[in-house]
Amino acid sequence: MEYFNSDYFTYSENELLCEQVPLTKLAKEFGTPLFVYSKNFFVDRYNELSEAFKEINHKIFYASKANFNINVIKIFNDLGGGVDVNSAGELFRALKAGVDPQNILLTGVGKTDDEIRLGLEKNVHLIKAESEEEVLAIDKIAGEMGKIASVAIRINPDVDPKTHPYISTGLAENKFGIDSKLAYDLIIRSSKLENIELTGIDMHIGSQITTIEPFVEATIRMVELYKKIQAAGISLKHFDIGGGIGVLYKDEAPFTPKELADKLIPIFMQIDAEIIFEPGRFLTANGGVLLTEVLFTKKNSHGKNFTVVDAAMTELLRPSIYKAYHHIQPVLKKDRNDVIMDVVGPVCESGDYLAKNRTISKVSRKDILAVMSAGAYAMVMSSNYNGRRRPPEILVDKNKYYLIRSRETFEHLLYDEEIIDLAE
Ligand code: LLP
Repeated sequence: MEYFNSDYFTYSENELLCEQVPLTKLAKEFGTPLFVYSKNFFVDRYNELSEAFKEINHKIFYASKANFNINVIKIFNDLGGGVDVNSAGELFRALKAGVDPQNILLTGVGKTDDEIRLGLEKNVHLIKAESEEEVLAIDKIAGEMGKIASVAIRINPDVDPKTHPYISTGLAENKFGIDSKLAYDLIIRSSKLENIELTGIDMHIGSQITTIEPFVEATIRMVELYKKIQAAGISLKHFDIGGGIGVLYKDEAPFTPKELADKLIPIFMQIDAEIIFEPGRFLTANGGVLLTEVLFTKKNSHGKNFTVVDAAMTELLRPSIYKAYHHIQPVLKKDRNDVIMDVVGPVCESGDYLAKNRTISKVSRKDILAVMSAGAYAMVMSSNYNGRRRPPEILVDKNKYYLIRSRETFEHLLYDEEIIDLAE
């Protein structure tokens, strides 16, 4: 079988470590399923991206939807980054993490009036509007509150990001942003509204993009629009290129931030704007693993092997809904033959699997497996389906580790649910 190694998850004497902490130790202490994150992975990716674009005026707003544990948010905030939030709930988390509202962008294709009001009340850096109706709603609500709202317009640049259809967002057929052909006129109209200050234009063309061309194509279009808007006498301050930088899960060959910078900086140089980035996956995905214990193994009469583990689609939904590949490897390397198996969870759905037809060295009951690349879009997409409790999260920093969220209790499952007296 193949092993997925990095500077942050390495084998030492056949045992997988996160930084300097053995993963078997964490599995023993906290139980499984368990998320383990490498702090220094997060820090190094942030610095790598920021360094690549250091010659231009830029700011990284971490897309907290990728991993919204408040300690993770805080790491990026402490490095000087802002935070991109997609709902009132994520805004609440960012504020809890101690983020200054002026370092928060409020995003989202469908904000409620309450969310817009909350964003204005907290004084977020800006609200991104994705339709003319939303621009008008923000103007109205800001007027009622006696405020001037900083607003950026999200434009759909209509380029193909060449990624999974469920995570591409910048095609004309996608629900996101304002049609690029209609954007200019809308911006002119919006600039006349009384309670809005238009501060910039924004795009986000998709996620897990592994080639640079879609970014270049979309950036060229957006920079042309930016210039046209400036020429009309509307002074903008920023251009937000969104997130979407792809990472290695299996055998992709993603570009580096430096390669992206070499292509994009000359285009950015044509305008006088702060460049905003909103990466989520790039900063976190390969900084996390999901540890799971083998419950049972079985083989059917067709010779198919199933490994039933204690993690499921409730902790890592990506394989079930995107057929996403997450590498799986034993935490303790043993000298065993390879076996082709499905790794499946305990949830009563055929779609509940972590890997299909995967070659992994033979496993047995109680073995601990590491599901790799689980730092992004894993815990945040977890659920209580089948009455499952969300797992704990551990943050590792060199040889130290911290419990940053504990396993949900049975009481959490009930929250405020109570037996009520039904009228006869
Ligand atoms: N900005 C906006 C407006 C977004 O919608 C997103 C992600 C990001 C930034 C961050 O994108 P990233 O850098 O992480 O690619 N659940 C899917 C991914 C959905 C991404 C949604 N938007 C998955 O598991 O692959």
